[in-house]
Amino acid sequence: MSHAMSHDPSSPPRAPLQLSRAEMQALGDQALAMVIAHHEGIRAQPTTTTMSRAEAAARLYTPLPEAPTPPAELLAQLARDVFPNAFRADHPRFYAFVPSPSNFVSAVGDFLTSGHNVFSGHWLASSGASQIELTVLDWLQRACGLPPEAGGIFVSGGSMANLSAVVVARETRLGSHDPQAVVYYSDQTHSSMSKGLRVLGFGKAQRRMVATDAQFQLSLTALEEAIRTDRANGMRPFCVVANAGTTNTGAVDPLPALADLCAREGLWLHIDGAYGAAAVLHPRGAAALEGLGRADSITLDPHKWLFQPFEIGCLLVRDAQLMQDAFRVEDEDHADYLADITRHIQQDVNFFERGIQLTRSFKALKLWLSLRTFGLAAFRDAIQVGFDVADFAQQWLEASGRWEIVTPSQLGIVTFRWRGAGLDDAAVDALTGRVVDRLRADGYATVMSTLLRGRPALRLCPIHWDATTSEMERTLERLTQFALEESARA
Ligand SMILES: Cc1ncc(COP(=O)(O)O)c(C=O)c1O
Repeated sequence: MSHAMSHDPSSPPRAPLQLSRAEMQALGDQALAMVIAHHEGIRAQPTTTTMSRAEAAARLYTPLPEAPTPPAELLAQLARDVFPNAFRADHPRFYAFVPSPSNFVSAVGDFLTSGHNVFSGHWLASSGASQIELTVLDWLQRACGLPPEAGGIFVSGGSMANLSAVVVARETRLGSHDPQAVVYYSDQTHSSMSKGLRVLGFGKAQRRMVATDAQFQLSLTALEEAIRTDRANGMRPFCVVANAGTTNTGAVDPLPALADLCAREGLWLHIDGAYGAAAVLHPRGAAALEGLGRADSITLDPHKWLFQPFEIGCLLVRDAQLMQDAFRVEDEDHADYLADITRHIQQDVNFFERGIQLTRSFKALKLWLSLRTFGLAAFRDAIQVGFDVADFAQQWLEASGRWEIVTPSQLGIVTFRWRGAGLDDAAVDALTGRVVDRLRADGYATVMSTLLRGRPALRLCPIHWDATTSEMERTLERLTQFALEESARA
């Protein structure tokens, strides 16, 4: 079999997947140049580009190749056909969903992680990496206000962290699966929560979605009433999930009151701060998130408002021992080939006993490297940008007189709707979707809508560290122009 890289026949034979130093250097240089070009050139790019399935297959499908291809050609194809055809969630004008404003240092961290292929499952395999992970977890635990005995783990993202939190809650409070057990969460809770509960075998009657108030915060009276009714009906309430920044509007549930209620009722309090909890590193965020540190567990996603590339989510638990009790590999599990690992080093942290995965990558590295490189002050400033640009958007929209603010700037999110003089609600709702499509076709920025109390609203989440008020203004001008044109057609 010939090798993809040109091989000097006078040099010794090489192993099947081996590259020479020069080849590694050339390939690395080419990849590095691509990533630098992405970081430097992103602002000039559209925020979203999509191919049809047919076009993508025509460009990219090949059968499993028997023969080699020079990797330089493959990287060139990736640069042409793959990376440009994406939502650029790390673009400073990507305001939809939860953007993922990454940073170059963390991308280097990910390269180092996979380049060294550290197995971060247990101490023996990764004492250095485990200590880095513990260090970063310690930073986040302290920032969230959790006590010294807290612990955590980095996982793929918020969905995994939320699911894992319920496992710890269930094992701690119930000991085993109980068909009468009930989890409570608001109608604004991210869909990953009910999905995770379904995965864990919680039936519909065990997933209690509670109404929110006018501010989209979980209603305490509705929650108390639901708990009372369930207990009267023989159900077993055991866990409340609160939001620390809903995806829809950035609303924060009444955390101190919920912590009081959970303490009174003996319920586990999980706080889903996948989106918003990182803002605790900023004084304004810390004020909005008062009560966060009273949680039994917290989800916080560094791949959202902590500027990390996918994938990195985090689960923090008030008492690390409870995670270890929940995820410990038991004798009955017959992990016989891990016996040497667990026998001698019980005093050490083995991350495979804090979560679901055994084999896991060194996700903590990118966050550690970027926090150490830039320092916390830079991250605080980066979070501030999200607050400022969202505030600016709200003020601009209010001053325009043409838009109605549905929810004000909170934790970096604003939602709004066309006032639509002369248009009824149905026409305004239809126009909202058309305005999104017009902006998508325009390509300057990405803004999407969400449903609030059954009606569409436009939603901005400008949390990129390099978002600017001037680009926000140009985006809002475009939205206004598209809305005017579309309403003239309605
Ligand atoms: C509040 C909240 N929770 C959970 C999730 C799920 O996180 P992930 O997509 O990282 O699995 C999200 C994602 O946007 C979120 O905003």
